[in-house]
Amino acid sequence: MAILNIIEAPDPRLKVKAKPVKQVDARIKQLLDDMVETMHAAPGIGLAGPQVGEALRLLVIDVPKEGLPREGQPPNPMKIVNPEIVWASDELKPWEEGCLSLPEQYAEVVRPAEIKLRYLDETGTKRELHATGVMAVCIQHEMDHLEGVLFVDHISALRRNMILRKLQKARKLKQPVPA
Ligand code: NI
Repeated sequence: MAILNIIEAPDPRLKVKAKPVKQVDARIKQLLDDMVETMHAAPGIGLAGPQVGEALRLLVIDVPKEGLPREGQPPNPMKIVNPEIVWASDELKPWEEGCLSLPEQYAEVVRPAEIKLRYLDETGTKRELHATGVMAVCIQHEMDHLEGVLFVDHISALRRNMILRKLQKARKLKQPVPA
């Protein structure tokens, strides 16, 4: 396993439409393992291929069980390949979202409250999932990454530019000062 480098906005690699995974082979399994390790180390609750420079339709999530404290919950990662939303509820819900590619930036995004998903797991087996709550938010957020869409693309241009400027400022502050 290895911790991968997480790409941050405004990198053009985050704006690319990802390609379907042809076969869940050893390389893909390794990539999914590395993505889980990278997500846990960050820490985050979701990570999509394009965020680690792989323009492939795959993502990992690890959403804590709702109603229980996050601390003390054992890791429960899910690996999702070639996901497709086959149903979304009419009911919409706002949620304060963040993203490992936009560190420490948050904004409220409105999405369907529930979804049904079809995907392949890490063994290449077809699966279906009915997701609600944070899991539904997280999966939709990660699936946006496969289309080159970031959560800030769902908010006003004014708010988006503010966030991107803040991000650039924070990055400049992190750079070492030449002595
Ligand atoms: Ni994200």
